[in-house]
Amino acid sequence: MTARIVAVSGSLSRPSRTRLLVGDVARQIHARVGGNLSFVDVAEIAIGLGQTFARPAPTQQIEQALLSIEQADIVVAGSPVYKGSYSGFFKHLIDLVEYRSLTGVPVALLATGGSERHALAVEHQLRPLFASFDAHTLPTAVFALDRTIGPDGQVSDETVRGRIDQLVREAAGALSLRAAAAA
Ligand SMILES: Cc1cc2nc3c(=O)[nH]c(=O)nc-3n(C[C@H](O)[C@H](O)[C@H](O)COP(=O)(O)O)c2cc1C
Repeated sequence: MTARIVAVSGSLSRPSRTRLLVGDVARQIHARVGGNLSFVDVAEIAIGLGQTFARPAPTQQIEQALLSIEQADIVVAGSPVYKGSYSGFFKHLIDLVEYRSLTGVPVALLATGGSERHALAVEHQLRPLFASFDAHTLPTAVFALDRTIGPDGQVSDETVRGRIDQLVREAAGALSLRAAAAA
């Protein structure tokens, strides 16, 4: 099975710490399991996304982004914390995803923020969002402070780096179980 790894960044900023972190984690998973890696970056599609209220989406670009999420073998989903939760555009993107498409699909949960007060947004906001799809959210969710994320997406905080290593291992394990089930 060629794993389709789809990385989703819910940030509207450029440059974006979230995009860097999501990219780094997705590339680590790709380096371990191979397959195809693609990105859905909300900052790149925000205008079209804001004009999309139903499927099929009015533009090929948005429809393709949604289809890639729906056909993923693993989703690496990251958002900046805005007002204690994921960004509104991230939620709008996910609202357009077909609700049966992610059943059992591994999802890596990531968030970035300016304050540790909102570190549990990964557990209280992102995890229930993907639980509503019956997705297989991976046990180790990662929150990183914006100031700890370098220009290559590497996190300077050692504890967070350890959590990323664990998340990457969990992703590889979940993908190999998925491949075995499909064989
Ligand atoms: C509109 C807005 C709301 C924010 N709200 C929060 C918040 O509630 N908690 C927090 O920790 N950081 C908050 N931040 C800071 C961002 O989450 C943080 O800087 C994040 O890493 C930005 O990611 P980016 O570089 O991908 O945009 C907010 C930033 C913006 C622009």
